[in-house]
Order: sequence, then C-alpha cells, then structure tokens
Amino acid sequence: MDFKAYVRNVPDFPVPGIQFKDLTTLWKDKEAFHNSIEELVNHYKNKKIDKVVAAESRGFIIGAPLAYALGVGFVPVRKAGKLPAEKISESYALEYGVATLEIHKDAIYPGEQVLLVDDVLATGGTCQAIIRLVEALGGKVVECAFFVVLDALKGEEKLSCPVYTLMRY
Ligand code: PRP
Ligand code: MG
Repeated sequence: MDFKAYVRNVPDFPVPGIQFKDLTTLWKDKEAFHNSIEELVNHYKNKKIDKVVAAESRGFIIGAPLAYALGVGFVPVRKAGKLPAEKISESYALEYGVATLEIHKDAIYPGEQVLLVDDVLATGGTCQAIIRLVEALGGKVVECAFFVVLDALKGEEKLSCPVYTLMRY
C-alpha cells in the first residue's frame, strides 16, 4: 500500500517554513490504518518482543494496537507529572527549552526485549530519551519503529538502535 498517499502535508505548521506530515488522514482510513499496523505486526511477530513501549501522545495511537496484535504488553511513557507510581525521568532538548518523559520503575523487567514505537522520528530527542529510560530499567531496545522518518533532521544517526519505518521523507 502507498502509505504516503494518505499523509496530509500541511504547510507552515507549527511555524512558517515547516511542512507538517499529518498522519491523522492515514489513521482515519480503515484500510490504511489496518494495513499500516499489519505491516509492523508482520515485521515484528517473530522477533521475540516482550513489550511495546510508546510515548504520549501520538505514540499511543500506534503502540497500543501493535502490542495488542503482537500479543505482548504495552508500556506508556508519559509527559512529566502524569504517572502515579514510582518512576524515573529523562529530559531532552526541544528547540526552545526542555521536555521530560517518565516511565514506571516496574514497567520493564531486566533483560526484556523492547520494541519502541512512535509516529515520527524528527531530531531523535524523544526517541533517545525513551531508549535511556528503557535501558535504565535493564530492558534491551530491539528496534525503534516509526510511521515517518524525516531524513533531513538526521535523528537516526543519534540513535543507538536499529530503525524501521513505513515512510521516509
Ligand atoms: C512529536 C512526535 C514525536 C516527536 C518527534 O511528539 O509525535 O514523538 O515529536 O520529534 P523528535 O524526534 O524531534 O523528538 P510531540 O512531542 O510533539 O508530542 P505529541 O506526541 O504529544 O504530539
Ligand atoms: Mg510524540
């Protein structure tokens, strides 16, 4: 399936000069949504994944159905202050300022094989922070899966694990 045909290009969002890759137009289409998750399921079903980890909020749209279809657990990484129990934090740089992501300490057991998923890999800051969280708990990030990788931002070069993506721009 030509997934790119379902992506909406929004000029000048969120700031002038940026072409935003809007995936809501892909997710709202029942065949495109089904086929995109299925492609990830087929890629990962024999890779001995123990848990899918995804970051709030767009990562949840992909991570939860993927974990369900793979028959594995789902772990949410949340923005600061949202998780109720004992947790660890990682901060990463944004264009202006910093953001913090958190994971429950008991979300991953040492030695577990983790698949990390998100909608878009841009600078890689988000993904790197999640990798650090998972590794701090003793998990092993098998691969990072995305719908879109924005090659020009070179996020992939910063990551310490292999990348799989449905689309590249
Ligand atoms: C977006 C996107 C990725 C991240 C990619 O999330 O969903 O998670 O940015 O950018 P990076 O590679 O430069 O870190 P955002 O933080 O905007 O939040 P959202 O998922 O809640 O919309
Ligand atoms: Mg996000």
